[in-house]
Amino acid sequence: MSQTLKAVRGTRDLLPPETALWNRIEATARAVFARYNFGEIRTPIFEDTSLFARGVGEETDIVSKEMYTWEDRARAQSEKAQSLTLRPENTAGVVRAYIEHKLGETGQLQKLYYIGPQFRRERPQKGRYRQFFQIGAEVIGPPSSGSESPLRDAEVLEMLATLLDELGITGWTLELNSVGSAADRARYNETLRAALAPVVGQMCEDCQRRAVTNPLRVLDCKVPEDQPIIEKLPVIADSLDQESKDHFAAVLTALDAGGVTYKRNPRLVRGLDYYTRTTFEFTHGGLGAQNALLGGGRYDGLSEAIGGPKAPGIGFAMGEDRLVLTLQALDQKAAPPQVDAYVAPLGETVNPAALALARELRRAGLRIELGDGSFRLKKSFEAADNVARRIVILGEDEVQSGILTVKDFSTGVQSKVPRAELVSFLKQ
Ligand code: HAM
Repeated sequence: MSQTLKAVRGTRDLLPPETALWNRIEATARAVFARYNFGEIRTPIFEDTSLFARGVGEETDIVSKEMYTWEDRARAQSEKAQSLTLRPENTAGVVRAYIEHKLGETGQLQKLYYIGPQFRRERPQKGRYRQFFQIGAEVIGPPSSGSESPLRDAEVLEMLATLLDELGITGWTLELNSVGSAADRARYNETLRAALAPVVGQMCEDCQRRAVTNPLRVLDCKVPEDQPIIEKLPVIADSLDQESKDHFAAVLTALDAGGVTYKRNPRLVRGLDYYTRTTFEFTHGGLGAQNALLGGGRYDGLSEAIGGPKAPGIGFAMGEDRLVLTLQALDQKAAPPQVDAYVAPLGETVNPAALALARELRRAGLRIELGDGSFRLKKSFEAADNVARRIVILGEDEVQSGILTVKDFSTGVQSKVPRAELVSFLKQ
């Protein structure tokens, strides 16, 4: 026997009725984004590898360990072989599209959202997959569009609080920090390098390398033995200049006015290199170890890092898989959808008439399941009871007389309904 094939490790099939919950989350997100005047962007699932190397950062775990990258062969003389990567996140792709389509030349702030799969070769566990889904948004534009304003940061965070409320996700925590400007980060990197020099010899190999190439990334280290050293390292808040401090203070003031509660976390630096100034994460206790519902922040230098014009921006991505898990933990499981009626033909000769009846009811807006004339009546009832509120029985007699038998499962009442009245009867 040949071996049975399964979904690849870290990927999974999403099946009904759970997909109804996914659809509800996406519909709620789209509705909230529309109220804040965001439009949808869809970028390709794969991009040139260098986009992520330059955008997300060579020393990040994402780029150095987790990307699905391959060398794409040239198909014709006019093509070149190219290193391609399945997108591990969508911010770099959105900023690439912003540059490619010269969206900055409109002078307007661009407010873009996306919903789609991302890929990272991480160790799979609850809430962590190799193909996962993000719902994210980016606000980006030339400085003249107000893209640097702390009001943008506060507005994005307030929108997230509103979206989580509308999804019915209660009990989240917003953690907030500022990682400063590029100059602040450079200063902090030097401070870290100096602080690491006497102790780095006792740390893991990755940290020893990072202490030289990009000391900030030492803070991402998960090796338990390294944690006591990391906890004693200086925090970035002490390296911020006055402008960065003022920007952060203005974000907090606007959040207070907007009624968004937050917790400051001076150690929150996030695992991607493009962040500047405001960084944040929303966590939820119901998720276990992978407790980040979403993360984001400002990336004022990203566009320039990938060859574009100055275009400060801020955005976030929510882990949709984790939103689903959280809602399930809060016990809002997708209820199995009940169809309005199950049309049960009695005998195979009635099948065509049953299809015509189902078509009429469906076109009238009713949700209908269609049985099969080969089923005995008992089997039709069992099948109908599983999915539908009512059963509509259609035998030769009913076809002739135009009077149908309808049984309501919740009341047990059986009625005779003329065909012309069936739609309004079922809509009650
Ligand atoms: P990130 O923190 O890498 O940020 O990912 C955002 C969210 O995606 C996480 O908080 C988590 O909910 C979800 N996520 C990440 N990895 C996985 C995984 N392996 N399995 C399931 N869920 C996962 C970004 O991706 C940035 N692009 C966010 C951003 C947008 N920053 C600015 N704009």
